Amino acid sequence: MMKKLIAGNWKMNGSLAANDKLLKDILAGLGQQASCQIAVGVPAVYLAQCQALLAGTKIDLASQDISTHEVGAYTGEISGAMLMDFGVRYAIVGHSERRQYHGETDEVVALKAQRALGCGITPIVCVGETLAEREAGQTDEVVKRQLAAVIHANGHCISEVVVAYEPVWAIGTGKTATPEMAQQVHAVLRAQLKAASEHADRIKLLYGGSMNAANAASLLAQPDIDGGLIGGAALKAQDFLTIIAATA
Ligand code: PGA
Repeated sequence: MMKKLIAGNWKMNGSLAANDKLLKDILAGLGQQASCQIAVGVPAVYLAQCQALLAGTKIDLASQDISTHEVGAYTGEISGAMLMDFGVRYAIVGHSERRQYHGETDEVVALKAQRALGCGITPIVCVGETLAEREAGQTDEVVKRQLAAVIHANGHCISEVVVAYEPVWAIGTGKTATPEMAQQVHAVLRAQLKAASEHADRIKLLYGGSMNAANAASLLAQPDIDGGLIGGAALKAQDFLTIIAATA
């Protein structure tokens, strides 16, 4: 059976002091055993700090974004090669906050996934419907459209991505999709990936959106939920550790 992946998404939270404490507390609580793969998605300015704190540990480093460009006159952007310099293993791409506040289209997200793969970074591609789209019965159509762009741009490399289903209405709201609702969408995504790749069974499908210490086990028990992308609960060491333990 494939190992589950628990990835934290710190978003724009943290400080040198807070990151130091959070990672040390998580590492202390983790001990020797970790039944799953673990990553933390930290703000870019803290990559060097977190790389040093996580060296030789079971926790991998993730970025929260990656540029569509490789190098050059793109003020403020951070390239895949730069992320590689800091030992980044995963890049979150197409998070709904970037789609919503930074105008990222399906095509931009697909290109970011392509750039990550080109550098040997695993993209965690986020897809998910808004509340209005769910209420209009468009959930499957929306997530399939978002994923189709990534499949189209990445060809056979699609088996190397991680996909995170994050219903927008569940992010940071405390409203989680029920395990059954999440599984239903994950099954749709798995079928789409199966049609695109003979290796679809090894693609990790994460659920994200108010996953927490109390609901993680029931979500992670679903057949097509291979892990979680955790926002708020990843900022509390004990909650993050409880979610990790729920993969066992
Ligand atoms: P949340 O965020 O766990 O705080 O809902 C998840 C995410 O946005 O990745």
